[in-house]
Amino acid sequence: MDALQCIRTRRSCRSYEDRPIPSETINELLRLGTKAATGSGMQPWGFVVLEGKERIEALSTEIKAWLRPRLGELPWLAQYEEWLGRDSYNIFYNAHNVIVIYGDTASHWHVYDASLCTANIMLAAHAQGLGTCWIGFAESFMNLPEIKARYNVPASFEIVSTMSIGYAKGHMPEAKREEPRVFFAG
Ligand SMILES: Cc1cc2nc3c(=O)[nH]c(=O)nc-3n(C[C@H](O)[C@H](O)[C@H](O)COP(=O)(O)O)c2cc1C
Repeated sequence: MDALQCIRTRRSCRSYEDRPIPSETINELLRLGTKAATGSGMQPWGFVVLEGKERIEALSTEIKAWLRPRLGELPWLAQYEEWLGRDSYNIFYNAHNVIVIYGDTASHWHVYDASLCTANIMLAAHAQGLGTCWIGFAESFMNLPEIKARYNVPASFEIVSTMSIGYAKGHMPEAKREEPRVFFAG
């Protein structure tokens, strides 16, 4: 698929085949991620790569339990209280693989750079039949000092994105979007 077709047809994937992605494929996706533009060439990204469906499901359970009593402090998630209370809801959609991207706050541009890196990985994954979904539910938890310590993330790095990734099951139609809101042209 060419680049335009890839951008046009990427969707968030919430259903994966029950098999892991080879680590070489994940490593190549990380390398493609790092081809993103980067402010002052600082490359302030860093990655946590998780594999193992059971391990990832256990992390989902841990995150839901942490989030539920804190939804008052996280009002943008309050609308999902019912989902987060459901035992059967795995925030990573039963994926065998998860990639977490952190940005080094030493660079002013770390959020932009790590977001561009995230988009590169999403598109590069889609180009080879893999599906991804940005998991905002994981954001606050994966940024806790003790969780960063668990995964060897240096203190100067902060969370930018978390994504589930796997072989996409099924096919989704092209995304519908509003027309671009152009404030000024010409
Ligand atoms: C910052 C951000 C956070 C998101 N968090 C979640 C999430 O926690 N769970 C989920 O299922 N989808 C999540 N999504 C996916 C969005 O729901 C999805 O991108 C949107 O509905 C548009 O659909 P599309 O990606 O298929 O075009 C997130 C997307 C972004 C960009």
